[in-house]
Amino acid sequence: MPGMVRLSLLLQLLLSLALSLVSFTTATGEDQFVYSGFSRSNLNLDGAATITPDGVLELTNHTVHIKGHAFYPTPWRFRKSPGEMVQSFSITFVFGMVPIYSDQCTDGMTFLISPTKDFSGAQTSQYLGLLNKTSDGKESNHIFAVEFDSSQNTEFNDIDDNHIGININSLTSNQSKSAAFYDDKIGMFKNLSLVSRKEMQVWVDYDGETTQINVTLAPIRVAKPSRPLLSATYNLSTVLEDPSYVGFSASTGPINSLYCVTGWSLGINRPAPLIDITKLPKLPHVGPKPRSKLLEIILPIATAIFIFIVGTTIILLVRRRMKYAEINEDWEAEFGPHRFSYKDLFHATDGFKNKNLLGQGGFGKVYKGLLPVSRLEVAVKRVSHESKQGMKEFVAEIVSIGHLRHRNLVHLLGYCRRKGELLLVYEYMSNGSLDKYLHCEEDKPTLNWAQRFQIIKGVAYGLFYLHERWEKVVIHRDIKASNVLLDSEMNGRLGDFGLASLYDHGTDPQTTHVVGTMGYLAPELARTVGSSGMTSSLSSGR
Ligand SMILES: Nc1ncnc2c1ncn2[C@@H]1O[C@H](COP(=O)(O)OP(=O)(O)O)[C@@H](O)[C@H]1O
Ligand SMILES: *[C@@H]1O[C@H](CO)[C@@H](O)[C@H](O)[C@H]1NC(C)=O
Ligand SMILES: *[C@@H]1O[C@H](CO)[C@@H](O)[C@H](O)[C@H]1NC(C)=O
Ligand SMILES: *[C@@H]1O[C@H](CO)[C@@H](O)[C@H](O)[C@H]1NC(C)=O
Ligand SMILES: *[C@@H]1O[C@H](CO)[C@@H](O)[C@H](O)[C@H]1NC(C)=O
Ligand SMILES: *[C@@H]1O[C@H](CO)[C@@H](O)[C@H](O)[C@H]1NC(C)=O
Ligand SMILES: *[C@@H]1O[C@H](CO)[C@@H](O)[C@H](O)[C@H]1NC(C)=O
Ligand SMILES: [Mg+2]
Repeated sequence: MPGMVRLSLLLQLLLSLALSLVSFTTATGEDQFVYSGFSRSNLNLDGAATITPDGVLELTNHTVHIKGHAFYPTPWRFRKSPGEMVQSFSITFVFGMVPIYSDQCTDGMTFLISPTKDFSGAQTSQYLGLLNKTSDGKESNHIFAVEFDSSQNTEFNDIDDNHIGININSLTSNQSKSAAFYDDKIGMFKNLSLVSRKEMQVWVDYDGETTQINVTLAPIRVAKPSRPLLSATYNLSTVLEDPSYVGFSASTGPINSLYCVTGWSLGINRPAPLIDITKLPKLPHVGPKPRSKLLEIILPIATAIFIFIVGTTIILLVRRRMKYAEINEDWEAEFGPHRFSYKDLFHATDGFKNKNLLGQGGFGKVYKGLLPVSRLEVAVKRVSHESKQGMKEFVAEIVSIGHLRHRNLVHLLGYCRRKGELLLVYEYMSNGSLDKYLHCEEDKPTLNWAQRFQIIKGVAYGLFYLHERWEKVVIHRDIKASNVLLDSEMNGRLGDFGLASLYDHGTDPQTTHVVGTMGYLAPELARTVGSSGMTSSLSSGR
């Protein structure tokens, strides 16, 4: 039947095609491999070994006394044909040891070539998941391994807890050295710490002719050093079976440790293909982070600076509060509009600087000021006032007098109260006080008669207003040249009315003494005041 013939022809064609494909892969692919990261790899894992999502081969997990293995899935022929000697081969891989809770790892890991993938009989801890007590040292193992040991076991003649060894069928190394790499730049070996949580690269090279085994170590991203760390001569033809598996083993002892591999390549009779270092996954971050020197220095300094800044800020804030602290009591609420904040007055007078000092009198110093918002020129009088008694009445009086409006009076704009002092804010009189003119101060011109007459009329108008035109009588009691102030038009204006009562409050109101400046008072006042009971500058009714 022609149909059957056609079908068998087609099958033949397919078969030959499949065969040619297989031979093609054998010719090009089967004497080398490379893994730059293990995600989507087909390694055979057992025990605790896992591959993380980002491609790190973790031979152990967070468990003590555990072992793990990873093998390339298919075995390799190390001889050209059965009975011949083992050919040259070279492998390289990138590994890292990650202590989990401390800066220590137990026990270690190996790269191995073995006739079997079944390591179920191998022991953990110092046996590295490679052998057990009975199999250790037996030639029947046919195992070649390179150990990376982070514990010192005297039973295997370990030199220290940070060594690399060439192991033949045994956990006792044929040759071992402390971890180090040859720095080509300085021409010397430099020590390395296996458990430093840093990746390192290893090259294992075997020369079939000379039977030399070189093991070379270097930190990652350092080119292969020109000198190997270990160099032994051992005829692997007497050790290895064909075919053999290549892979890794690792085991933990009493301390949690991760043994990781991130890249791996092999070449038989050719150099191992290059691992693409840039594609390697990062080692897992677990346990106490390695504290960098930088952090160790910066952290205390940063803490000190932080504490200093917080401290100074608090001190500054407290000082600022103290600096601008005021006393404000409930009863003052009704005088709210007349209240000035100390901060405003402080800034208005440039911090009560001497250059703003207008003069000093019996009550205290007077400063010129410029109010921040209203740009209004004011005169601020600082009166020290210790007594708390009678303060309410006094402030009430000042404020009520502050309501007086007359062009021959210096208006009181408001006040401010602090501990131990009272600040009174007046209109600023640009031409100062009359005494400056009368007592011939250099920069003041002498007043002519017309001016003097106008000033004296102003004082009279002011007094008349205080005595007659308001519903209460205000007795000035301190009329003197320095309390007669001159505005920009040289009009005389009375200042300090009502202030004399400062002396009254805080003392017993019944015992009255004469207030004001002696020599400026009506002489009979001294005689009459005691009996008349005129204790306040403000007396109601007439
Ligand atoms: N409102 C004001 N405008 C301009 N200068 C003033 C004002 N009030 C007071 N002064 C100046 O401050 C000085 C001190 O005033 P004061 O403390 O009342 O003391 P006294 O009146 O006893 O001299 C006055 O001599 C005057 O030159
Ligand atoms: C570690 O691996 C062992 C063996 O596979 C398993 O029994 C154990 O649960 C694993 N532990 C963790 C923390 O993953
Ligand atoms: C030791 O290992 C060998 C080889 O893997 C195995 O045959 C043997 O059973 C193991 N012995 C013990 C006590 O586990
Ligand atoms: C290493 O192997 C060589 C060759 O078999 C042997 O002569 C030598 O004694 C071994 N060294 C150790 C320390 O086992
Ligand atoms: C390197 O390590 C070896 C073995 O631990 C030690 O003897 C040597 O002093 C170390 N060298 C330096 C420079 O630390
Ligand atoms: C081992 O290292 C030595 C010294 O660098 C070198 O001469 C030799 O060729 C190396 N052998 C192998 C197998 O790489
Ligand atoms: C290595 O061993 C094999 C098999 O025993 C032998 O044929 C070969 O000559 C040996 N090679 C060397 C360099 O001794
Ligand atoms: Mg005055």
